Amino acid sequence: LAANLLLLALIASAQAPTTPVPSPMLDPLRFNDGTAVTSAKQWPARRAEIFQIFQREEYGQRPPGTEKKLRWHVDEVAPVTSGSLAGIALRKRITLFFPAPSATVARQFPHTAREMHLLLYTPLAKKSERVPIVLGASFAGTWATADDPGVPLGTAWPMGLPDRDLAFTDAHTATEADRTHQTIQGHSQWQAKKILEHGFGLATFYYADLEPDAKGGWPFGVRPLFFRPGQTAPAEGEWGAFSVWAWGSSRALDYLQTDPNVDPLRVAITGHSRLAKTADWTAATDTRFWLLLSNEGGKGGDSILHRLQGEPIAHLWDKFSYWFTPAFGHWSGRDAETPFDGNLLISLTAPRPVYVGSAIGDAWSDPLGEFLSAKDVGRVFALFGKQGLGVTEQPSLDTPVMHDVGYHLRAGKHDVTAFDWDAYLQFMEMHLH
Ligand code: GCU
Repeated sequence: LAANLLLLALIASAQAPTTPVPSPMLDPLRFNDGTAVTSAKQWPARRAEIFQIFQREEYGQRPPGTEKKLRWHVDEVAPVTSGSLAGIALRKRITLFFPAPSATVARQFPHTAREMHLLLYTPLAKKSERVPIVLGASFAGTWATADDPGVPLGTAWPMGLPDRDLAFTDAHTATEADRTHQTIQGHSQWQAKKILEHGFGLATFYYADLEPDAKGGWPFGVRPLFFRPGQTAPAEGEWGAFSVWAWGSSRALDYLQTDPNVDPLRVAITGHSRLAKTADWTAATDTRFWLLLSNEGGKGGDSILHRLQGEPIAHLWDKFSYWFTPAFGHWSGRDAETPFDGNLLISLTAPRPVYVGSAIGDAWSDPLGEFLSAKDVGRVFALFGKQGLGVTEQPSLDTPVMHDVGYHLRAGKHDVTAFDWDAYLQFMEMHLH
């Protein structure tokens, strides 16, 4: 009887749902086989391992053909004459054309994306110089980047938050009201005037030009353009929307490096929230980017999944599965077991400078996790004789710390503000020389 009871107790405990417990942070400085990374010379091999993990488990692999430059056309070069950038900005608008779909793809997916629109502002006072710039994908369209009526309204998908009921029947033409879209990355989130006054340029493109941000959005983006013959849907192991948007930044960089007003070696990449998760991967996949400014990337970005704070993978997977490669779903409910995490993700940018911005009111992103990630990545920079945050505790509110890694915890909510940009611009200035 005692033996039977013991057996029953064992079966019951094996079946009882276990409450997940936080697990230690992963170590960027340990190879998969457990060996320690102790020199800069070993870093490329360890980096390749980390890259493989993220490619396999979160972002997916890009199909062949995506590495090619796009054809582009400079649509306009003009000084800005009205709005708050009048007299201080030179505006360029560039269209980059995606490869044409095959006849079969065109028949099956008649609404694939055709082109992306890049907007570039550089300081008018430096119109015969090549200046450092910051590039970012935008939530609200190029026409909502700055107070500049000279940017035409685009015909593109609406800000396709998946909880909005989108009928994918027709592209949506933005309206005048969309120019001042303040809730999601409107003018205040870009701070174009401030950026230009610091002598930098700003380039943006609308992420939905590449794929609408919504479940079921992929037939309206670029993914089908790269389908293998006979392929009719995204497949296991392939890129998700994050990687598609990151790809857009790399193709924009192809152009920007040729622009006579852009310093080709000083193009920073930035993004906010889901577009910070995108920017993290952009800097990882494309080492031509100068530095990374990652604003409130949260879970699945630069925050720490293993802490089990803030947004769980189950939420990411349930609402936004299309952001990821399908393998990501296997980690739903297993946040503390992932072989990938935020500190490893941003380590892929090292030794190029990395800045992580958090906000105290952004519990969903777990600001402490973002800090721990930025702090930990300093150990990778140390291999190169570079300096991490230089602090052990999360700094107090509104007090940026920066060396080769930067971090701040801003007062306020999930957003990008003038405060964030002051810190980012100071960080860029610090790394100019
Ligand atoms: C949602 C999502 C986050 C994401 C955020 C955003 O809140 O759960 O993962 O970062 O949207 O992009 O604003």
